[in-house]
Amino acid sequence: MQTQLLFLCCCIGLSFVFVEGAQVIANDELSILLSMKASLIDPQNVLKDWKMPSNLAENRLLHCNWTGVWCNSRGFVEKLDLSNMNLSGSVSDSIQSLHSLSSLNICCNGFASSLPKSLSNLTTLKSIDVSQNDFIGSFPTGLGKASGLTSVNASSNNFSGFLPEDLGNATSLEILDFRGSFFEGSVPSSFKNLQKLKFLGLSGNNLTGKIPPELGQLSSLETIIIGYNEFEGEIPAEFGNLTNLQYLDLAVGSLGGQIPHSLGRLKQLTTVYLYKNNFTGKIPPEIGNITSLEFLDLSDNQISGEIPMELAELKNLQLLNLMCNQLTGFIPDKLGELTKLEVLELWKNSFTGSLPRNLGQNSPLQWFDVSSNSLSGEIPPGLCDSGNLTKLILFNNSFSGTLPMNLSTCKSLVRVRLQNNFISGTIPVGFGILPRLQRLELADNNLTGQIPEDISLSTSLSFIDVSGNRLESSLPSTILSIPNLQTFIASHNNFQGKIPNQFQDYPSLSVLDLSSNRLSGEIPESIASCERLVTLNLRNNQLTGEIPKAIAKMPTLAILDLSNNSLAGKIPGNFGTSPALEMLNMSFNKLEGPVPSNGILMTINPNELIGNVGLCGGVLPPCPQKYTIKPGHPRKLHINHVIIGFVVGTLVILFLGIAIFTGKLLYKRWYLYNSFFDDLFKRATKNGLGD
Ligand SMILES: *[C@@H]1O[C@H](CO)[C@@H](O)[C@H](O)[C@H]1NC(C)=O
Ligand SMILES: *[C@@H]1O[C@H](CO)[C@@H](O)[C@H](O)[C@H]1NC(C)=O
Ligand SMILES: *[C@@H]1O[C@H](CO)[C@@H](O)[C@H](O)[C@H]1NC(C)=O
Ligand SMILES: *[C@@H]1O[C@H](CO)[C@@H](O)[C@H](O)[C@H]1NC(C)=O
Ligand SMILES: *[C@@H]1O[C@H](CO)[C@@H](O)[C@H](O)[C@H]1NC(C)=O
Ligand SMILES: *[C@@H]1O[C@H](CO)[C@@H](O)[C@H](O)[C@H]1NC(C)=O
Ligand SMILES: *[C@@H]1O[C@H](CO)[C@@H](O)[C@H](O)[C@H]1NC(C)=O
Ligand SMILES: *[C@@H]1O[C@H](CO)[C@@H](O)[C@H](O)[C@H]1NC(C)=O
Ligand SMILES: *[C@@H]1O[C@H](CO)[C@@H](O)[C@H](O)[C@H]1NC(C)=O
Ligand SMILES: *[C@@H]1O[C@H](CO)[C@@H](O)[C@H](O)[C@H]1NC(C)=O
Ligand SMILES: *[C@@H]1O[C@H](CO)[C@@H](O)[C@H](O)[C@H]1NC(C)=O
Ligand SMILES: *[C@@H]1O[C@H](CO)[C@@H](O)[C@H](O)[C@H]1NC(C)=O
Repeated sequence: MQTQLLFLCCCIGLSFVFVEGAQVIANDELSILLSMKASLIDPQNVLKDWKMPSNLAENRLLHCNWTGVWCNSRGFVEKLDLSNMNLSGSVSDSIQSLHSLSSLNICCNGFASSLPKSLSNLTTLKSIDVSQNDFIGSFPTGLGKASGLTSVNASSNNFSGFLPEDLGNATSLEILDFRGSFFEGSVPSSFKNLQKLKFLGLSGNNLTGKIPPELGQLSSLETIIIGYNEFEGEIPAEFGNLTNLQYLDLAVGSLGGQIPHSLGRLKQLTTVYLYKNNFTGKIPPEIGNITSLEFLDLSDNQISGEIPMELAELKNLQLLNLMCNQLTGFIPDKLGELTKLEVLELWKNSFTGSLPRNLGQNSPLQWFDVSSNSLSGEIPPGLCDSGNLTKLILFNNSFSGTLPMNLSTCKSLVRVRLQNNFISGTIPVGFGILPRLQRLELADNNLTGQIPEDISLSTSLSFIDVSGNRLESSLPSTILSIPNLQTFIASHNNFQGKIPNQFQDYPSLSVLDLSSNRLSGEIPESIASCERLVTLNLRNNQLTGEIPKAIAKMPTLAILDLSNNSLAGKIPGNFGTSPALEMLNMSFNKLEGPVPSNGILMTINPNELIGNVGLCGGVLPPCPQKYTIKPGHPRKLHINHVIIGFVVGTLVILFLGIAIFTGKLLYKRWYLYNSFFDDLFKRATKNGLGD
């Protein structure tokens, strides 16, 4: 029992002595941390447990338990994780004395200072993350001496100056993330030594010069993201040596020349983003060898030639974006056999021929846009076979044939934009009950028949344009009461009947264009309930009746064209005072009476009023006398009428009186005159002239 106790004491004593040895330095580290804390701003007091203990002797390794601090088995700080703590202020120079620090993470705070140069003395660092702050100034050089450094994340900051060249000596580096600062200059060629580098992120800086061909020697690279810079020149052919590369993103820059054929050797590539550069030449057919490829975006360049047949070999392709280039020729039929294709965007090129017949039948096609090409033939029938199609955009081509019936049962559709083609036949029933459809653009085609009644049932449509077709019959009476409808354009058709007069309670309609049809009847007064209407175009119809006064009170109406109809009556007196009206055309109607001389009507071009025989005054030639009264309040006008009536009546009576009087006088004179001649004649004959 006694020996056991003695042994225990011995052990405690020994271990105390052992710990005491290291403690001298460890206690130093406690003060180092406290001095670091002194230069930090910690608004949420996250580091409240970072404080000098009351009894240091009893709390020798206390700091190892502080928030964000980890010590190694020997009691030295090896890891600091102060990420996401809303810290600012500055990182103290004293950090360089944490001689065992291997991991420093201060990401996602609010530091807006510069990083201390003394960081370079932390040669034990394996990982440093200062990302998502506002750090300014240059990134400290010297970390190249940290031979164990594997990860540097400095992304999303305000660093400037050159990239630290000496990092090329940190040959253990696997991750180098300098994205999203203001680094300038070129990529140091010393980076070619980073044979273990897997991730190189330099995008979103102000880097210039050529991409060093030496980067092609980084055989471990899996990810290169270096777009959104000002690099020039070509993609080094040496990139074809990066056999482990999975992700290549050079999007948005000033790169040019041809896309190297050697990229076809990269059998691990899943993603190639080269959009928004100045690449020219053809798409290398070797790209078709990259069977792992899932995302290929070469859009917004000056690439010419045809789509190589070989691209159809990319069995894993989900996205193919080639829009805004100078591509020509046919779209390979076999693209329709790709089973994973979701996005196919080929707009703004010069493609000809017809679309692959089986497009959409084998893959979950979602976005399909081939607008602004010279494509022809029919719309493939199976585009929505998978039920995933949301965007169908075919405008500005020469497509013909009819709309596939099953398009109008494609529940996923959000946008259908088919304007400016030669599509014929009728609009299929069903678009109105597609739950997500927002845009239906069928303008400038060869469509016939009527607008299906079901369109009125839609709760999602906000934009409908069916103008420039040969549609006829009357418009569905409730079509303007679609709850989200903002634009309805049906001009240049053969629509007849009346203007629909039912609107929603809080109409969102802002553009209504029914011009150049054969609509008749009156303009419904209820149209004035469309409080957000900006444009109302009813020109070139057969509308009759008077212009509803309420139109003048519409708060946002800026453009009103009622020309070329048979509208009668007067221009409502309040028109000039309409709050937003900028353009008004009422020419070629049957309007009459004086043009009110207020607001827009005082400055209106007379051409917008001509062709109304009965209109006068204001900017038009003055009215005949009887109209020259100032337009005013209706009541006053009425009184004026009475006065005028009275005056005119009196004048008429007076005139008649005078007429009768002068008539009598004249008659008398004539009688006298005649009798004078009579007398004269008689006298002459009497004097021997006639006998
Ligand atoms: C470390 O902190 C925890 C609670 O935060 C506490 O339970 C534990 O006793 C502390 N350990 C030391 C050695 O101070
Ligand atoms: C950080 O502080 C700001 C105000 O300084 C505050 O608005 C924000 O919510 C804080 N963030 C977190 C994660 O607490
Ligand atoms: C960092 O850059 C952003 C964007 O230019 C700027 O808004 C911000 O003020 C800058 N912060 C500092 C600390 O310079
Ligand atoms: C690194 O540490 C050495 C020795 O303590 C010191 O002389 C030097 O100034 C430090 N370097 C920086 C950049 O602070
Ligand atoms: C660097 O940090 C940011 C967030 O701070 C993160 O989004 C990014 O993935 C990190 N980079 C790497 C290569 O892990
Ligand atoms: C890399 O290390 C070598 C040898 O230690 C040294 O000569 C060279 O200057 C270092 N390179 C940089 C860019 O610091
Ligand atoms: C850096 O690039 C940004 C945009 O990426 C630009 O606004 C800024 O002017 C550039 N700065 C320099 C110094 O080139
Ligand atoms: C790298 O690629 C270039 C050009 O594609 C080639 O000439 C060179 O032999 C390759 N180097 C290695 C080490 O594979
Ligand atoms: C890229 O091409 C466009 C159009 O040809 C040209 O205006 C621009 O200057 C080019 N940019 C570079 C960096 O070559
Ligand atoms: C790569 O593609 C080219 C042209 O498409 C072809 O001639 C060549 O055989 C392919 N190479 C491999 C290894 O598949
Ligand atoms: C396609 O639609 C089906 C059925 O709505 C859905 O289960 C599937 O996840 C969608 N596929 C894609 C790639 O969105
Ligand atoms: C429109 O369709 C009619 C037959 O319905 C046809 O005669 C005419 O050529 C078509 N017009 C165009 C431009 O395709």
